[in-house]
Amino acid sequence: GILEVHHYSSIDSTNEKAKEKQGIVVIADRQTAGRGRRGRRWYSEEGGLYFSISLPPHLNMEDLPKLTLTTGVAVCEALSFANAKLKWPNDVLVGGKKVCGVLCEVVGEAESPAVVVGIGINVTNPIPDELKDIATNLLEFGVGRKEIFEKVVGNFFRLYRKLPSDWEEIRQRWKELSDTLGRIVEIRVAERLYRGIAVDIDESGALILDSNGKVERIFSGECFYLQR
Ligand code: BTN
Repeated sequence: GILEVHHYSSIDSTNEKAKEKQGIVVIADRQTAGRGRRGRRWYSEEGGLYFSISLPPHLNMEDLPKLTLTTGVAVCEALSFANAKLKWPNDVLVGGKKVCGVLCEVVGEAESPAVVVGIGINVTNPIPDELKDIATNLLEFGVGRKEIFEKVVGNFFRLYRKLPSDWEEIRQRWKELSDTLGRIVEIRVAERLYRGIAVDIDESGALILDSNGKVERIFSGECFYLQR
């Protein structure tokens, strides 16, 4: 069907707005309370791309890791002009630095919940000095926000339609675009800390970590590279 896109010049957070109605896309030129994962703030100055896709119930709870990985693939493929790569679970890197973050949020407590997928991409917005070592934007590529937005949304729905049945194809694509697999990493999951080599993404969407021969399956967490 035709996608309803709600555009705001300024809003607190597109994720919050998107929670109000299923089946829409909310985009804003800037956010006054942009949110990142783990309760962090997301700098949302003008020049960046900030939008959220609200999805009616379609996937089961256990398929949600697939959705976040799929979103990463959709963004990464849209940014192929910049040779973008994926950092588990769903950051997109350009030149080893973060250019995009994804915040997937479940709405309600159903077995098959509505989901809001929030995507923030640094396009021409300035990167604050304290983040310059770890974050970057797409300024040098001279590509517009509108063009990137349309590519990401197009890719997203093309892939989302394949979930959960054709997940295997998306999983392979994630692995091809991965910057994480093969690296020694540290993963923080709540109070636990895992360390090992990131070896695979399994059929359920979990990261497989080889931790001194012990295999760990991790569905979500914060990933740090221990070598560059
Ligand atoms: C992260 O890497 O921590 C996730 C960042 C997600 C930011 C986007 S911008 C659009 C949407 N609205 C928000 O408040 N957050 C997400």
